[in-house]
Amino acid sequence: MKSILEVEQKNLSNKTILVRLDLNVPLKNGKITDTHRIDKIIPTIKFLIENNAKLIIISHIGRPKGKVLKDLSLKPVSENLSKQINIPVKLLKNDIYNLNKENIFKINKEKIILLENIRFYPEEEENDEKFAKHIASLGDLYVNEAFSCSHRSHASVSKISKYVDAYAGILLNSELKALNKITTNIVKPITCIIGGSKVSTKIKIIENLIPKFDNIVIVGGMANTFLKSFNMNIGKSIYEKNFDDTIKNIVELAKKNNCNLVFPEDYSVGKKFNDAAKFKNQNQLDSEDMILDIGLLTINKILNLINSSKTILWNGPAGYFENESFAKGSFQIAEEISQKTKEGKIYSVIGGGDTVAVINKLNLFNDFNFVSTAGGAFLEFLEGKELPGIKALK
Ligand code: 3PG
Repeated sequence: MKSILEVEQKNLSNKTILVRLDLNVPLKNGKITDTHRIDKIIPTIKFLIENNAKLIIISHIGRPKGKVLKDLSLKPVSENLSKQINIPVKLLKNDIYNLNKENIFKINKEKIILLENIRFYPEEEENDEKFAKHIASLGDLYVNEAFSCSHRSHASVSKISKYVDAYAGILLNSELKALNKITTNIVKPITCIIGGSKVSTKIKIIENLIPKFDNIVIVGGMANTFLKSFNMNIGKSIYEKNFDDTIKNIVELAKKNNCNLVFPEDYSVGKKFNDAAKFKNQNQLDSEDMILDIGLLTINKILNLINSSKTILWNGPAGYFENESFAKGSFQIAEEISQKTKEGKIYSVIGGGDTVAVINKLNLFNDFNFVSTAGGAFLEFLEGKELPGIKALK
């Protein structure tokens, strides 16, 4: 895989670079509510512009399913980007098929063009060969700077690399490096703290990580499914049915691989989601209790594991953190990992929408070695899948 940083300056100067970004930011009434995905790619844009390149930026926003939807225009994104870099960014609404290498920068004097939402064309999600070839023909080089949509076999993410010299972006490279530290170049002991509400969405990750990890700590709603299958009382807590066989296999796999599986031993409970927290141990639970967070003993056990690890992966909150009464587990995990990271004692990778929401609540976003804002791509990578957008660069 070639990195854009390896390209000599003379080969960037006056060249047209196609840059696939993931500018899929949340919008509310036409306004961007979280600009993280834009903020993060500013250094890449600046690097290319400083090297005298012209840019054609390609991105999707939302899921318009091949239709032109005014609400899913990239207009707010072009305005924000333009403001942040202090260079005009022209949103080009023209039909892509009417554009060619000769006319695209003649219609516009700007050095940066943002093509309108690429998912307005059904060919994008169909991974259409002709469409990919046509977009490729507009530039001299292609850069994938969109790790978070590299799990999609879409024309501007994977097929395009077949028709133009393709490179990994600066950010994409650093994301892959960080993810390799928790999958291939591991410094042990390594611990994964995995939470969230459903076992079904994380089962493949757990199976894939067991052979490499020393400890896997299962918290959040998904822990209930394990506890229930161990015939333990979980009151009226949420859990998923029909997972007994899967869980049996996981426990066996962990035994075989010497991986220590850790589950909550005490809890913070409520009868309703908006209740105040009550701490209970296993035999104090009554049939109306809902487990909504881990208890103090469990928190301590997890903090000790963090302290005895060199590498930590955390994905998924430990409880119903939306109610601060049940956020203690998640908050303490976040604080401990960030503290040990700052002290240089551990390498930490954090990912997943809810986990990022937890660290944002505590203003800790910059206190970890790597925070992945990629939802699906992050999970598929952890499942051990090869992502089509990455494979295409090889
Ligand atoms: C994301 O937000 O995870 C990426 O932009 C991919 O979006 P998608 O799930 O609509 O393909």
